[in-house]
Amino acid sequence: MRRGLLHWALLARLALLTLLPLGAVCTAQERLLPLSEVRSGLAFAGKDVQALQADEQANPAQLWLAQGRTRWDAPTGPPQRSCASCHGEPARLRGVAPQFPKLHAATSRLFNLEDQIRHCASVRQQVPAPAFESDELLALTALVTQASAGLPLRADEDPGLLPHRLAGAALYQQRQGQLNLACTHCHDRNWGRRFYTDLMSQGQPNGYPLYRLEWQRLGSLDRRLRSCYTGIRAEPPPFGDLALRQIAVYLNWRGLGLPIEMPAVRK
Ligand code: HEC
Ligand code: HEC
Repeated sequence: MRRGLLHWALLARLALLTLLPLGAVCTAQERLLPLSEVRSGLAFAGKDVQALQADEQANPAQLWLAQGRTRWDAPTGPPQRSCASCHGEPARLRGVAPQFPKLHAATSRLFNLEDQIRHCASVRQQVPAPAFESDELLALTALVTQASAGLPLRADEDPGLLPHRLAGAALYQQRQGQLNLACTHCHDRNWGRRFYTDLMSQGQPNGYPLYRLEWQRLGSLDRRLRSCYTGIRAEPPPFGDLALRQIAVYLNWRGLGLPIEMPAVRK
């Protein structure tokens, strides 16, 4: 109960701090967060979380990576093809994860990495696509992302992607929910400040899917974004929604150059 009250008091204060209109000051191409100040969420995590992420034995996300490796090699579906049958070693996919979300050539849909893996399962392996947030999908997504560990987030120059990035930027500035806050209020204007006992991060996407102590499991960027919607008492878009993909395109552009962290841990 006390925690609930504290929550509202803090958020109300935050809302007051941010009453300034955003208006025309920021165009979609303008960086509210200068590239020189871009920092991973890891920098704002406590020492214990940082230590857990760095510890190869204790990092709980390793369990999903191991599961992903098993799935990768498992012959599946009527054609009895594994991911490995077509793609070889996971390490061969180095450089692939930072390209997502991108437009999938055959369907022209905006795919994130999860969408691509679900597509391969249903079309190439002819099995039902693993559900969003299933251990199987998270494990394979983490495995493919691990191949790109340390590579920088990039902003694809594909002109077809630009409208999606602009849509994501607009969503990022849009006030929502009962608290009438936008992403930018917390993650552009208040990062580095205390929020409860923790520091507010810049809301960077470079560690996903990651292990969150609060979830006690791995979770996707979709899930994290949905938590932020719920936090401001807004209706979260469903898993797999285009709006979440568009925000992710914008987040990659916004966090340009941040190294992919895999396996990552957050509180
Ligand atoms: C009321 C403040 C608030 C708003 C508004 C908000 N968030 Fe967050 N966000 C948080 C908090 C708190 C966390 C968890 C701790 C942290 O990373 O700061 C978080 C975490 C995140 C993370 C994960 C960072 C990491 O390193 O794991 C991302 C990405 C993110 N937010 C994006 C968004 C987006 C996109 C929006 C708008 C749809 C949004 N947030 C709106 C408070 C907010
Ligand atoms: C029968 C062959 C086949 C199998 C099996 C297969 N894929 Fe694919 N995969 C492809 C093809 C072809 C593409 C090119 C894009 C497309 O058409 O979807 C692709 C694209 C990808 C990409 C994006 C590569 C890039 O360069 O953008 C990833 C990641 C991926 N697959 C992961 C997987 C995973 C994980 C599995 C196992 C669950 C899997 N694939 C199973 C054929 C396959």
